[in-house]
Amino acid sequence: TETGLLDQFGRVATDMRLSLTDKCNLRCQYCMPEAGLDWLKKDKLLTAEEIVRLVGLGVNRLGVRELRLTGGEPLVRADLVEIIAALRRNHPELPISLTTNGVGLAKKAQALADAGLTRLNVSMDTIQHDAFLELTRRPFLDQVKAGIEAAAAAGLKPIKINAVLLRGINDTTAGELLQWSLDRGYELRFIEQMPLDADHGWTREGMITAEEIRALLATDFELSPDPRARDGAPAERFEVRHAGTSQLLGTVGIIASVTEPFCADCRRTRITAEGKVMSCLFSRTEVDLLELLRAGDSEDDDDAVAARWQDAMWAKPKAHGMGHPGLGDADFVQPDRSMS
Ligand code: GTP
Ligand code: 5AD
Ligand code: SF4
Repeated sequence: TETGLLDQFGRVATDMRLSLTDKCNLRCQYCMPEAGLDWLKKDKLLTAEEIVRLVGLGVNRLGVRELRLTGGEPLVRADLVEIIAALRRNHPELPISLTTNGVGLAKKAQALADAGLTRLNVSMDTIQHDAFLELTRRPFLDQVKAGIEAAAAAGLKPIKINAVLLRGINDTTAGELLQWSLDRGYELRFIEQMPLDADHGWTREGMITAEEIRALLATDFELSPDPRARDGAPAERFEVRHAGTSQLLGTVGIIASVTEPFCADCRRTRITAEGKVMSCLFSRTEVDLLELLRAGDSEDDDDAVAARWQDAMWAKPKAHGMGHPGLGDADFVQPDRSMS
């Protein structure tokens, strides 16, 4: 286990992303169907103790240096604050971040900060009520905004906001969302829609590309490359100014997973809510760790879990295989598992 989570292309996964639940209280068009999914039974999910054990293995033996908690919607898990507190007790220096949709965050933000959460990203695709309702199919925009404010008030920094643009729904509200974020010092990132929706409605022609996003913003803002090193981050960052002025208003990021993939620099290892390793977001192979975890908790059992995790990562695909427009990506097959 000395070599960590290495793959056959020489990449080393040091960034662990762990899903805490498949459940969610929104129904974003680019992710979940209106009716929701067939939720996993509780005994199929990693328990808080199993999560703490897995993260311990990752950090202490496999070179994990950063942890992100995701979902579904992680705030839906009643024991989220305790999980973070337990992880923080075991790993005083580990950066622990959370990706949330912000629903219910207002009530929990201070407790999350007190438990030792390092920072968080909130998904908010628009600040227009109608567009939010159409996109997420739920009327919770005000709750999400209140959640972001509560997180800022609790001292969580930086706060990043994620926005996926869907044509004809929220694309024209991009500039307004950017201004709102700049005014408050949040780091907004626009994200290209990926083919990870449960309804399989994604098309390359329908997707708003990074190039289009830059053009959309150019009506009101001037973007120039952020001189800070990108360092494997998914977002390409830009400094933002009003056209013809020199005052720096802040930065904006663009995550172009489809048209400008960062697979070659990927450092991620993903664990699903049911304890399976996904070496890539687009893997169609998942490697179960839960059964081994539940077999026992001796040193030998830990060795077995770590070895299987390493084997799973060794097989990480070189890239997601969506190719580039015009290059022909006929053999790309959308995974059955949606983003959640
Ligand atoms: P930080 O920049 O460290 O805050 O994290 P992040 O941006 O990676 O995390 P977040 O959960 O906020 O994800 C934002 C977006 O990044 C997602 O909507 C995806 O578009 C993209 N993303 C996250 N993980 C992956 C991945 O493994 N592969 C690809 N291609 N894109 C990913
Ligand atoms: N394409 C791109 N981003 C997506 N997200 C969910 N589904 C998709 C998709 N199909 C985003 C969420 C959240 C982040 C974890 O992933 O909005 O911000
Ligand atoms: Fe890495 Fe690309 Fe897979 Fe994401 S999709 S995990 S960037 S190889």
